[in-house]
Amino acid sequence: MNAKPMIMAALGLTGRLRLGRWLMLGALLCTLTACHTPLLEARLEYQFISPSQDGIGKVYLGREIAHTMGHEGAAWLDRPSRVLQERPQAAIESLALQPTDVVADIGAGTGYFATRLATLVPQGRVLAVDIQPEMLAMMQERLAEQSIDNVEPVLGRGDDPNLPPGSIDLALMVDAYHEFAYPREMMQGIVAALRPGGRVVLAEYRAENPMVMIKRLHKMSEAQVKREMAAAGLTWLKTDDSLPQQHLLFFQKPA
Ligand SMILES: C[S@@+](CC[C@H](N)C(=O)[O-])C[C@H]1O[C@@H](n2cnc3c(N)ncnc32)[C@H](O)[C@@H]1O
Repeated sequence: MNAKPMIMAALGLTGRLRLGRWLMLGALLCTLTACHTPLLEARLEYQFISPSQDGIGKVYLGREIAHTMGHEGAAWLDRPSRVLQERPQAAIESLALQPTDVVADIGAGTGYFATRLATLVPQGRVLAVDIQPEMLAMMQERLAEQSIDNVEPVLGRGDDPNLPPGSIDLALMVDAYHEFAYPREMMQGIVAALRPGGRVVLAEYRAENPMVMIKRLHKMSEAQVKREMAAAGLTWLKTDDSLPQQHLLFFQKPA
C-alpha cells in the first residue's frame, strides 16, 4: 500500500482526536466560567406557583417558602414546654461562643434565644433582628424585666437584615430561615455582615423525620439547607443532630 494515504489517514485521525479534545476542553471551560453563569443565575431566580396551605407560592431552589409566623402567635415561642422539646441551652452552648463575640440572632421573635445568648457573650453583643415591630416590642419588655443590656433589637426588612458590613462573628437563625420571603437577598446581607471566617448556624426542624410534628414547609432537610447556603457562598462545617427535633447546621464564610 502507498505510504502517502496511510500518513494522510493517520494525520486525519490525530487531527480529529485533537479537535475532539479541544471541544471537550472548551465545554469544560464554558461550564466552569462565563457560559455557566446564566444557568447558575437562572437556578437562583425565584419561581412562582399556586400557594400551598402554609406557603407563599414562591419557590427558591426547589423549596416553597413558608408563611411568616405572625406576632399573634408569639406565646407559642415562649411556651414552657419548649425547654424540654428543643433544649435551647444545649443548642446555644454548642455554638462555642467567645465572651467578646458579636452575634446576630436573625428572626429573633420575642428574644427567646437572644436573651439566652446574651449571657454567653458578656463582653460582646447580640443584635436581635426581626421584621415585626410587635415582636421587637415584646423583646424590649423581656430585656427590661431581666435587666439585660447587651442585646440590641434591630428592625430588619424582608430583604435586608440591616446589619453593618463586617460587624458580626456569628449569625444564628432558629426556626426562621424557612420563612424568609427573600432568602437570597437576606443571605447576601448576612454574608456581608459577617467578618471573614465568621459562622452561620441554622436550627431547622428535621424534614426527613415524619415524627417531627411541624407543618411541612416549616421544616427543612439537611440537603436543602446545604444547597441554599452553598448558593450564598458559605462552606458547610458540620451538622449537629443531637437536638430532639432540629438540625443544627454550621457554615462558614471563607476567610
Ligand atoms: C417562628 S419565629 C422564630 C423566632 C425565634 N427565632 C425563636 O425561635 O423563638 C420566626 C421569626 O422570623 C421573623 N422573620 C421572618 N422573616 C424575616 C426576615 N426576613 N428578617 C428577620 N426576621 C424575619 C418573623 O417575624 C418571626 O418573628
